[in-house]
Amino acid sequence: MVTIGSIEVSPPLLNSSCAWSSDLGHLQGLYDSPFTGAITTRTATLEGFKQDESHTVVFSNASTTALNSYGYSPHPLSQYLVWVKQILQKSNSDKPIIVSITSHTEEGLKSLVSAIQGLRQEIGDMARTPSRVAIELNTSCPNIKNASPSGYAFHLLKPLLHVLAEAATADSSLTVGLKLPPYVYREQFVDALEVLSELGPASFIAFLTCCNTLGNSLLFPEQVGAASTDSQFAVPTALGGLSGESVHALALGNVFSFAKLIHGPEACFTTLSKIRIIGVGGVTSKDAAERAGADAVACATFFGKEGVRAFEILSS
Ligand SMILES: Cc1cc2nc3c(=O)[nH]c(=O)nc-3n(C[C@H](O)[C@H](O)[C@H](O)COP(=O)(O)O)c2cc1C
Repeated sequence: MVTIGSIEVSPPLLNSSCAWSSDLGHLQGLYDSPFTGAITTRTATLEGFKQDESHTVVFSNASTTALNSYGYSPHPLSQYLVWVKQILQKSNSDKPIIVSITSHTEEGLKSLVSAIQGLRQEIGDMARTPSRVAIELNTSCPNIKNASPSGYAFHLLKPLLHVLAEAATADSSLTVGLKLPPYVYREQFVDALEVLSELGPASFIAFLTCCNTLGNSLLFPEQVGAASTDSQFAVPTALGGLSGESVHALALGNVFSFAKLIHGPEACFTTLSKIRIIGVGGVTSKDAAERAGADAVACATFFGKEGVRAFEILSS
């Protein structure tokens, strides 16, 4: 069991936000599994993302690897809040639901956070120990046209963090985390943590989920199982986000780097020491889950391939 802010994740295994945690059926199946200690919704926006046939996912025929061109969920946050309420009201379990959200603007993020807080108030989650609803701000989708992921552009991220800080200061029962993109050199990790440590003496960020897909990746039709060989590229947009076994080493490196800077003997960011790390990326076996060295482990691609059974396989 791991405590992350005001939520408890037991066992410390969950799904990472993805296309297979899009609707009520997916979410209920994940919630009902005894092998998940928490579940994460697909990333929601205020209005819902305009999804079309260019948004898809393909699996590599060489390994448990996927390439996806999806943006965010077509369902707006309001729909997720109805589903979250429905799932939680049927259960006495302490298992939390992490609601993944994103916005490019402060106003938009304020509205999203306020809607989630409204639901928490309504279902008594603010007064409950442990609480069962947390927020993950997705800073790292690589597939949005003309919008750099804010996790790579800290001048875009800072104003959004202020919105989260304000909400967490007003309500200490609110658990907030960030979904980060994969970083590839030391200054990126240091810069990310510097932005967080500038926000106050004690971080209001309870967790970092490391990491999202590796953007700007390309696969060809002959490299993937089901794609039509008429198309030039494996996904219609040509470029997409790479996930699964192909990014496992990079994800391990990201978790390792953050853990060293926050918790290691030579940690430089001691004010951030309460931050928990959810390791994501190419977790396809119990060995992979154990080597992640994270406080909790999550997966998307393996879950997409195996269904909810994935969590049983990772546990046994
Ligand atoms: C089809 C698909 C859709 C995804 N959608 C989201 C999303 O909506 N929000 C998000 O934060 N991450 C999303 N991700 C990224 C995953 O949460 C995860 O960070 C990444 O795939 C690496 O983990 P994995 O190797 O276990 O798949 C998606 C991944 C896939 C494969």
